[in-house]
Amino acid sequence: MATRTLNRRDMLRIFGTATMGAAVANPVLNREPGLTLPDYLMNPRYKRPAEPVTCVVLGAGGRGNVYASYAEKYPEELKIVGVAEPIPFRRERFARRYHIPEKYQWTTWEHALEIPRFADALIITTPDALHYGPAMKGMELGYDLLLEKAIAQSWEQCKDILHLSRKHENIVAICHVLRYTSYFRKMKEIIDSGALGEVISVQHLEPVQNLHMAHSFVRGPWRNKEESNSMILSKSCHDTDIIRWMVGKPCNRVTSFGSLSHFREEHAPDGSSARCTEGCKVESTCIYSAKKFYLNNKSWTHHLEIPDTEDETILEALKKGPYGKCVYRTDNNVVDHQVMIMEFEDNITASFNMEGITSYAGRRSRVFGTLGDLAGNEHTLTSTSLQTGAREEWDVSMGANIESGHGGGDYGLVHDFIQAVSQKDASLLTSNIEASMESHLMGFMAEESRLNKGRSMELDIKGELS
Ligand SMILES: NC(=O)c1ccc[n+]([C@@H]2O[C@H](COP(=O)([O-])OP(=O)(O)OC[C@H]3O[C@@H](n4cnc5c(N)ncnc54)[C@H](O)[C@@H]3O)[C@@H](O)[C@H]2O)c1
Repeated sequence: MATRTLNRRDMLRIFGTATMGAAVANPVLNREPGLTLPDYLMNPRYKRPAEPVTCVVLGAGGRGNVYASYAEKYPEELKIVGVAEPIPFRRERFARRYHIPEKYQWTTWEHALEIPRFADALIITTPDALHYGPAMKGMELGYDLLLEKAIAQSWEQCKDILHLSRKHENIVAICHVLRYTSYFRKMKEIIDSGALGEVISVQHLEPVQNLHMAHSFVRGPWRNKEESNSMILSKSCHDTDIIRWMVGKPCNRVTSFGSLSHFREEHAPDGSSARCTEGCKVESTCIYSAKKFYLNNKSWTHHLEIPDTEDETILEALKKGPYGKCVYRTDNNVVDHQVMIMEFEDNITASFNMEGITSYAGRRSRVFGTLGDLAGNEHTLTSTSLQTGAREEWDVSMGANIESGHGGGDYGLVHDFIQAVSQKDASLLTSNIEASMESHLMGFMAEESRLNKGRSMELDIKGELS
């Protein structure tokens, strides 16, 4: 079986000559001749904005910095003109980086939205519990939104945001970055081409990886449902979104099981202490030692809210902050494993596993159709024809010049958002709010099902959104 990278000929085959022709005429592409192009720069509907789209970032943490960095690479498309961030060193660093005048620097989103609109859009990258407030207020002021997922903390809040966006005609992009990756775009394209025939069923796995689980969902901001969201929303709304996007038809019912099995106090080893820094007798052999992860390996220290990564600074953060806590003794309550079963229109079925305790990461999917099937692992996709047995494999991660996180999806999303705002056309975004609501409803219903011993939950998205 041959493994192939996407070269120009592949691109022509995949995207068609019209698309490539349009891409070559694209002024952005002409800037760096000879460069292998990220997929999102090949959109035939691309129009260079007359002026850069201006944005205010609310929450200059991990995500805020990722999206804003697009402005450094493509200053003719995006300009960051304001920031709201309560942590002083983050705010100051961000303001310096984007040359933001003092009058447009605030400590919280509320302050930024006390004055009339002075930019095109808000980039809302505050914690999950702080999406609803700035989204509602921002739209009232006339801003378009790049809104992080999960949209909000309840279905009612999600609907409020949708209805207000309809009323004021704001463009609202939901940060379902996976839709903008070469990998999932290719998967969608193969399904939509009809090469697999009618889709019968989908199987999808999200292996979170155990250290990521411990960092984000046991010690970190998404550990506690009341403070953020349930796991199926905060982590897996990407997955319900991708499954819904692949199937292309409404979801009629869901059922779900799952629990917090491992990261509980009764599993704390003998000799362990409340923190890894408090003389824990098993720290040196513990899989989840915070000293090993943050101090020795300097992993994911950007979440520690520290101005530098000197050993003493990290140690101090582990002694006082959430990331030094024993993983068996935090106030976590989100599940560490969950399964969800879905039935879509035309009896299409899908199953999804979120597994928090795995040695590896990277989503795996299989799609079963009447003419063939497809299997993928975020790097390669393999399709097999039922008629001829012929197999075709695409190495989607190579040759695609991925220049941002999430397999290129981060910049792909920002690129399409800028297009949607500058052309005032939400259809230029695949993850606009209209398209993103159903996957959130699937998540809220799955959580309700899980809490009710796997009760089957009926969905009526049309009725809900009318
Ligand atoms: N799309 C994705 O793939 C993806 C990935 C990770 C996180 N997220 C989502 O993005 C959001 C941000 O996550 P993150 O990883 O950047 O977290 P983060 O903690 O790094 O950043 C959030 C920032 O918001 C700031 N903040 C807190 N209160 C504020 C207020 N009142 N006003 C303004 N700023 C405030 C915090 O100080 C912090 O700097 C979350 O909703 C998260 O679920 C999405």
